[in-house]
Amino acid sequence: MAIERTYAMVKPDGVKRGLVGEVVGRLESKGFRIVGMKLMQITRETAERHYGEHAGKPFFEGLISFITSGPVVAMVVEGENAIAAWRTMMGATNPKDAAPGTIRGDLASTLDENVAHGSDAPETAEREIGIFFQEHELLA
Ligand code: RTP
Ligand code: MG
Repeated sequence: MAIERTYAMVKPDGVKRGLVGEVVGRLESKGFRIVGMKLMQITRETAERHYGEHAGKPFFEGLISFITSGPVVAMVVEGENAIAAWRTMMGATNPKDAAPGTIRGDLASTLDENVAHGSDAPETAEREIGIFFQEHELLA
């Protein structure tokens, strides 16, 4: 295991529903260190970069509309095995498959609006952190 950094985000549905505290609380309770955090509105251009791997898929337009539909809380989270650990805490992409105790299992009910995001691999984490944060915005 190693100390890693991942990109974590409370999606617009989570912010609208007042779940920022719940999601951030779970991160903090687990012992992760938040090294970057901001409330922001994602532009269409940034959304298309962030979700570039899904360009051309049937759900892409809806995904871009959703993620730009209201403010998100963008975070860089540091900790032991943080990339996989945060994915495990979020649960399966589709809330109907997400286990109880996970964010999506406990707090979400639709595939399109599943409350939280987390990078899925080390290269993805590095890329996504670079999209949302400049080096000076992050703690050392
Ligand atoms: P995310 O990137 O948002 O953290 O979610 P994820 O890794 O668990 O899932 P991913 O495959 O990257 O998909 C990104 C988001 O697109 C929506 N989606 N819709 N209709 C569909 O088949 C479909 N597949 C994915 C989901 O909202 C998912 O979170
Ligand atoms: Mg993904």
